[in-house]
Amino acid sequence: MHSTEKELILDNTAIQHRILEMGEEISRDYQNKELLVVGVLKGAFIFMADLIRAVSIPLTIDFIQVSSYDGGSDSSGSITLKNSPGHPIKDTHILLVEDIIDTGLTMRWLVDYFTGQGAASVRVCSLIDKAERREHKTRIDYIGFSIAKGFLVGYGLDYDEKFRNLPAIHHLKL
Ligand code: IMP
Ligand code: MG
Repeated sequence: MHSTEKELILDNTAIQHRILEMGEEISRDYQNKELLVVGVLKGAFIFMADLIRAVSIPLTIDFIQVSSYDGGSDSSGSITLKNSPGHPIKDTHILLVEDIIDTGLTMRWLVDYFTGQGAASVRVCSLIDKAERREHKTRIDYIGFSIAKGFLVGYGLDYDEKFRNLPAIHHLKL
């Protein structure tokens, strides 16, 4: 990492405001359904912690970890399952929570994985939809923010495992 120059693009107030709206929408959509919220580690952990507290209906949580990335800023093109959820998936309504969807490779793989495990439904919630490099079509049911391009860090998002602790989201000038 040579330069750490970065530009603030979403402050924490804006993020929290949007999360409250998303939480209300999710609470309405899953009324009377058994909801399992599955966070995609590690990037989604901060967003998920705030999101579930904005959801007013009963839910359970779990996590999954896959790797599509080798630490840099480009996807390596293949997905490996590193940690699978412990909770049974069959006949459960799954809401996948991701920090950012870029090429769509990871989310496409995850949706296929949960569908293949017999989930009752699989929906996708991503804090950020970055469509510039989308290669794998994937439906995103709940989008926090659409950002045209750039490499983002903070609020769980990393560059080489750093910057996850920043309270806001910044554009990293690589
Ligand atoms: P995809 O498979 O190309 O959609 O990539 C998804 C994963 O790549 C995300 O879960 C992130 O971990 C990572 N990623 C993609 N774009 C960014 C970014 O701008 N900042 C940080 N991580 C990113
Ligand atoms: Mg991620």
